[in-house]
Amino acid sequence: MMPRKTTISLIKCDVGSLAGHHVVPEPLFNIAGKNLKKAKEDGLISSCHVFNVGDDLQLLMVHERGESNPEIHKLAWDTFQEAAEKALKLKLYGAGQDLLKTAFSGNVRGMGPGVAEMEIEERGSDPVVVFAADKTSTGAFNLPLFRIFADPMNTAGLVIDPGVAGGFKFEVLDTVENKCVVLRCPEEMYELVGLIGTVGRYMISRIWRARDGLICAVGSVTKLSKIAGKYVGKDDPVMIVRAQRGLPALGEILVPFMHSYLVAGWMRGSHWGPLMPVGVKNAKCTVFDGPPRIVALGFQVANGKIASDDDGKPMVADLFDDPAFDMARREAVEYASMLRRMGEFEPARLGVGQMEYTTLPQILERLKERFKPA
Ligand code: F6R
Ligand code: MG
Ligand code: MG
Repeated sequence: MMPRKTTISLIKCDVGSLAGHHVVPEPLFNIAGKNLKKAKEDGLISSCHVFNVGDDLQLLMVHERGESNPEIHKLAWDTFQEAAEKALKLKLYGAGQDLLKTAFSGNVRGMGPGVAEMEIEERGSDPVVVFAADKTSTGAFNLPLFRIFADPMNTAGLVIDPGVAGGFKFEVLDTVENKCVVLRCPEEMYELVGLIGTVGRYMISRIWRARDGLICAVGSVTKLSKIAGKYVGKDDPVMIVRAQRGLPALGEILVPFMHSYLVAGWMRGSHWGPLMPVGVKNAKCTVFDGPPRIVALGFQVANGKIASDDDGKPMVADLFDDPAFDMARREAVEYASMLRRMGEFEPARLGVGQMEYTTLPQILERLKERFKPA
């Protein structure tokens, strides 16, 4: 018998938000909930969960149609379109912000929404974690992914579990030249760090277990600013990670978030800011349009669906809604206050080449006659 193949699709989009770039309001959730419920009744998807991180509407769908399926992508696209129309009617902020193209052409990749998709052969029991962040870019996941899948000081299994000890293979995308390379760890760990430490250019897109090629992690790597040719918002990345039994344990996947660390994005996509792990109820950006937030949702994939409770409701655990991450949240506030004291001076502000907003060309133009040889 062919093993069952199940696809997890997490597709997200900023279609408009409440009180500036702050949070997705109820009427937009209602549209997403209605459309996904209908898709479930029609048999297109088998489970879904709608949530938000800041101003990004997140559609988590589980189905058996594979990655890049045109019907699944159309469902997401039509849902975002409908929500954007509602946002426009309500005069919400940034209505349709990430919908960069008008005509749907079979796949939402390259059209604005962020996508992470993973087709898996279900193991006996398959725990999965999805991460979603707001006010930052995909390079923000390089550090935790390295820790989870390559750092023996983070993941005990790399050292003491024979099922994990063989290491992992990382696909790294060069977002400037649009090409990718696969590196194997631990053998090529230094080369890997040499690339992915440059978080604005090299981004981890996929990870497989080295010994058998089992898919373990998938990230969304879209450079929105590149698609639009002008600033339209930070990429606000999502990723899917599988856990346990020959893979990093759930706790090894979460431990990198015990401490806050700096990511590119925050106000006007032009500053370094501390990433703050939060439960969904606190996934809303405030101070200086942040600090950048990240949520983690855990669930079990079971027989082509998200395992559900007795009423058929998918069981989803809000993993950062936990006092164990209080320290990271406190650190994030402290780092935020330290960085904001520096105002528009580097390194609080991103380097010139990485800023999403700048007035520098106008300033230089205005002052060009007044610059004299030094
Ligand atoms: C960052 C972000 C916000 C906006 C900022 C200015 O990703 O979305 O920080 O850049 O609030 O927004 P506008 O230009 O829409 O007033
Ligand atoms: Mg926005
Ligand atoms: Mg956003």
